[in-house]
Amino acid sequence: MKVALIVAMDLERGIGKNNDLMWHLPKDMRFFKETTLGQVVVMGRKNWDSIPEKYRPLSDRENVVLTRNKKFSSDDCVVLHDLVEVWEKYQDEEERTVFIIGGGEIYRQAIESGLIEEMYITHVSGTYNAETFFPQFNLKNWSVKALLEQDMDEKHECAFQVKQYTRN
Ligand SMILES: NC(=O)c1ccc[n+]([C@@H]2O[C@H](COP(=O)([O-])OP(=O)(O)OC[C@H]3O[C@@H](n4cnc5c(N)ncnc54)[C@H](OP(=O)(O)O)[C@@H]3O)[C@@H](O)[C@H]2O)c1
Repeated sequence: MKVALIVAMDLERGIGKNNDLMWHLPKDMRFFKETTLGQVVVMGRKNWDSIPEKYRPLSDRENVVLTRNKKFSSDDCVVLHDLVEVWEKYQDEEERTVFIIGGGEIYRQAIESGLIEEMYITHVSGTYNAETFFPQFNLKNWSVKALLEQDMDEKHECAFQVKQYTRN
């Protein structure tokens, strides 16, 4: 099993507000889709709720939703009740990467687990007064490679840079 994480955060590590994203960056959306297509995507129940129904489940990906609510059920996703259940279910997975796709609570627990081998972080060059944040992590443990850069333009309200972090 390989576990990776993908996130977009602003200069204050902000990732969301009012259970929604704070920006519209089509090229970053495309990067997210291309990177996660065919993989397993793991998200918190609030993140799942925030995805408009017409885009749910995320296409051509195995959608896993984490909730503590034993009554939550859906035909569109795998429902699990603990991160440990995720690691157990996919421990023998060899083809697909298990992608942690947020939100804040799930990112924090995933980083604390020490199982993340790779992170794709979109650094959005602005501040958005977020309510939800991406946790601090120790840069010393990671090798960083720049993957993509986008300037502000008519389709992108903010410049951003995508970096790949690989655990040393
Ligand atoms: N910028 C980005 O890249 C990005 C990516 C994803 C999301 N977001 C944003 O992040 C925000 C949502 O993040 P959030 O921190 O509020 O919520 P979240 O992490 O999406 O979901 C939290 C929920 O997950 C469930 N949960 C958490 N830990 C669990 C565990 N160990 N076992 C079982 N279930 C568990 C609980 O669901 P129950 O309450 O049902 O028990 C909890 O309420 C939104 O604004 C969204 O737009 C941003």
